[in-house]
Amino acid sequence: MKIKKITCIGAGYVGGPTMSVIAQKNPNVEVTVVDLNEARIAAWNDDDLSLLPVYEPGLDAVVGEARGRNLFFSTDVDKAIDEADMIFISVNTPTKTYGKGKGQAADLKYIELCARQIAAVAKSDKIVVEKSTLPVRTAEALKSILDNTGNGVNFHILSNPEFLAEGTAVTDLHNPDRVLIGGEDAEAIEALVQVYEAWVPRERILTTNLWSSELSKLVANAFLAQRVSSINAISELCEVTGANVDEVSRAIGQDSRIGAKFLKASVGFGGSCFQKDILNLVYIARTYNLHAVADYWEQVILLNDHQKSRFAEKIIKTMYNTVNGKQIAFLGWAFKKDTNDTRESAAIYVADHLLEEEANIIVYDPKVSAEQIYKDLDYLGTRSPEENRRLVKVVTDPYEALDGAHAIAVLTEWDEFKGYDWETIKEGMKRPSFVFDGRKLLDRKQLEELGFSYYAIGE
Ligand code: NAI
Repeated sequence: MKIKKITCIGAGYVGGPTMSVIAQKNPNVEVTVVDLNEARIAAWNDDDLSLLPVYEPGLDAVVGEARGRNLFFSTDVDKAIDEADMIFISVNTPTKTYGKGKGQAADLKYIELCARQIAAVAKSDKIVVEKSTLPVRTAEALKSILDNTGNGVNFHILSNPEFLAEGTAVTDLHNPDRVLIGGEDAEAIEALVQVYEAWVPRERILTTNLWSSELSKLVANAFLAQRVSSINAISELCEVTGANVDEVSRAIGQDSRIGAKFLKASVGFGGSCFQKDILNLVYIARTYNLHAVADYWEQVILLNDHQKSRFAEKIIKTMYNTVNGKQIAFLGWAFKKDTNDTRESAAIYVADHLLEEEANIIVYDPKVSAEQIYKDLDYLGTRSPEENRRLVKVVTDPYEALDGAHAIAVLTEWDEFKGYDWETIKEGMKRPSFVFDGRKLLDRKQLEELGFSYYAIGE
């Protein structure tokens, strides 16, 4: 079976870039990405490619090539479902904030709504592909909804989790380590394999049963996050023993069994996925009464929380145990460089901690808007929106943030921070001039020679 029309429900950080690349590489397949969010769809359709709702290096070129040719963005969900042979579900699956499993389980309400809508609209057979990250065995529930509420047509469910990393989404999609497809029906699997085979070598396309595929995505994120928490735990030990965490990383990373990647200590991991997916894994383990398994993975989250608050505490303690009324400049707010995504960013939690101590924070991030920053702080509910606006200022010129500051905190590893005129910055700052480098980004030697008091994690 040759796929001619693909629809993707959800035009977010995953749906947008993945479908753009699928369309780019399959010019004969018509790809339509739909979303309920009208503003988001309008931004995907904007003539000015610098205004796409997702910032990813190289994404503007891919969208520019395929959009209008065989890539379309629309809010007409029903029409797109009706016309497609294959429907990807790429909606958000956040941690539940209510009821059973609150704070741990994945909230599947958006997934279920999609399934019900597909069932109601579909008048011909469809292959439904889980692109969202889902708890293991969700395909069973999806199938039941589709079969019991549908119009008697056949649905085949595939699991095709996405492994792209934000900030490098386009290169990851162009050159994936592997593509994973789980399913039961050989013909449906082969149809999706053919879509990817347009640019991914066959040996990198792995096929498994549905449950292995669903579970593998949760496990991949758990293992990645576990490495970050492991090296972050060691960073604290380094600080009290005189060891240097970068040297330890290099020493252990050269062991081919360990490997060098993902061993950089930092203020803690963020992003929409790691925490949510581990919490989900923990929840699933507990529902099967596997408490030792759940406790083991939960530590990865607890250590990450500890790392964020430890960084804030370090700032307060070093600044003579008070930051009240002091101006602290934040360099970066996004959860990592080269993205405008701030979900679960460490910056939010470090800011919240310092604001509790009545610090004044000035934020500069090259890609994140003031509106988003206030939204992130207001969402915590720690203080009123007015208080957040009184204590936090957001600027579009980094030098404005740094001028007159008592301290600088580096929260995101944006490359541009390294190239700043640190001599001029030093002159404008209060003395002693503190730099707290949560990303181990800046050059200690250079800053110390200029007279900064420089603190980096794990040194
Ligand atoms: P997102 O929040 O950026 O995008 C989801 C979109 O779905 C939103 O625009 C929302 O309006 C739309 N939506 C929700 N319900 C809808 C409905 N019923 N009909 C039409 N549109 C609907 O989320 P993101 O980051 O793209 O994540 C999507 C899934 O992919 C999640 O399950 C996530 O865990 C997974 N994932 C995310 C990665 C990432 O780096 N962000 C990487 C790999 C997987």
